[in-house]
Amino acid sequence: MAHFNRERVPERVVHAKGGGAYGTLQITEDVSQFTRAGLFQKGRETPLLLRFSTVAGELGSADTARDPRGFALKFYTDQGNYDIVGNNTPIFFIRDPQKFSDFIHTQKRRPDNHLHDHNAQWDFWTQSPESAHQVSFLMTDRGTPASWRNMHGFGSHTFLWYNAAGEKFWVKYHFKTDQGIKNFTDAEAAAAQSADPDLHIRDLHDAIKRGDHPSWTVNVQIMPFEDAADYRFNPFDLTKVWPHADYPEITIGKFTLNRNPENYFAEIEQAAFEPSAFVPGIGPSPDKMLQGRLFSYADTHRYRIGTNYLQLPVNQPKSPVNSYNFDGSMAFRQPSGPHYAPNSFGGPAADPSLYEGEQYQLTGEIVRSAYRLHSEDDDYGQPRALWENVLSETDRAHMVSNVVGHASKPEVTSDMKKRVVEYWTNIHKDLGASVAKGLGVTA
Ligand code: NDP
Ligand code: HEM
Repeated sequence: MAHFNRERVPERVVHAKGGGAYGTLQITEDVSQFTRAGLFQKGRETPLLLRFSTVAGELGSADTARDPRGFALKFYTDQGNYDIVGNNTPIFFIRDPQKFSDFIHTQKRRPDNHLHDHNAQWDFWTQSPESAHQVSFLMTDRGTPASWRNMHGFGSHTFLWYNAAGEKFWVKYHFKTDQGIKNFTDAEAAAAQSADPDLHIRDLHDAIKRGDHPSWTVNVQIMPFEDAADYRFNPFDLTKVWPHADYPEITIGKFTLNRNPENYFAEIEQAAFEPSAFVPGIGPSPDKMLQGRLFSYADTHRYRIGTNYLQLPVNQPKSPVNSYNFDGSMAFRQPSGPHYAPNSFGGPAADPSLYEGEQYQLTGEIVRSAYRLHSEDDDYGQPRALWENVLSETDRAHMVSNVVGHASKPEVTSDMKKRVVEYWTNIHKDLGASVAKGLGVTA
């Protein structure tokens, strides 16, 4: 009974509901001119864990809610773990990590009545114009994917790659579903919520069990290091994509999911992904959101799982680990012999040459918030391109009705509806007019 009383650990503060599976990354192309990371060398196969999730819902919430989907990869490389903790969208709602907790609080339950509040969501979004691109994605049918197997994944941030000669490149990851994109309409998603709230966990598990192994093609966009300084917009802005005309996608390999976990709690609930887990040949970029995330994840793991979360089998690197960390709750892998560094007794020593090439110089002001760097750092240009050039007539009609449905919840005030119309009008006047008509807002 005492053990039973202690069965729960806190759920993830975001991305609580999810599922995952193991698989293998296979690299088919030679990208050694861009990175010396072992896992990305041609012919290399690397085991991995992929966890999918919704963002806002609690552990028991429905898989088919309108929400971005988490797409968190852990590669068990022979140089240690490399994690890409991305989403099914190439962009995000904000570009300043200081805004993350307030943004998430608008997605979660209110402190007073414990209810979700669409008025708060629109209040935040309409006062945060940088959200326009991600909210546009969210309000298309890609906000309600039919299954995890039928959606893309993105690293979203810009990362640094460097090769054996120390030459540097900026990189973005795109994981393109080989199953094809398949989405639910708003009505189909709502029906699925009541019919089977665990639809996506079940779908992935059953597919793998019957040998129908889903795969994703791994593409990258590469920007020469020097381009960043005078590219027409800030290439480290997480609310923007790099247009393909400027930086086309290059295919480098594929990964396949082929094994279900045997124990959900041990292998998925306790899985700990962290954007700060890099291997030589890969590093962070100056994206402020990424810089914020480098701190946040390991911190929350120490709280949610425990100080020695990295010693659990699912999180343990499959390469030898030589760490001078010791003690803390549940420690069982401890340094013996010399227990500090530097030491004179032949203990393991850091090898700085592994990371040679990673360093670079920056110029500019250090500021607390993320702000605009270039004249073209506008918030509406890229969502406008999505609306004008990418979405079909049907996609547009669904986007409008999805927005109208979302902003028609009883708690959304008539003043807020006017702001909602203004928000979409800033992206495109036709979009604004259609939303106004749907919401019954007159000028
Ligand atoms: P492109 O025409 O080269 O690329 C458009 C991209 O949009 C493709 O990656 C396409 O790939 C994806 N797409 C297609 N339908 C939808 C949809 N309904 N919802 C979301 N994405 C869709 O143009 P640009 O690179 O110049 O980008 C134009 C706009 O496309 C951007 O402003 C952005 O909103 C959107 N976009 C761009 C991406 C990029 O990395 N450049 C990535 C994704 C979207 P697929 O159908 O395989 O997803
Ligand atoms: C989960 C913080 C932005 C993707 C989490 C968790 C925290 C967090 C605390 C819970 C981790 C856990 O308990 O295991 C933040 C902060 C952000 C941010 C502070 C911004 C400053 C993003 C962005 C993405 C993202 C931009 C995607 C591009 C994810 C994913 C998970 C997650 C996929 C779930 C990982 C898993 O499956 O275990 N985030 N996040 N987050 N975040 Fe973020």
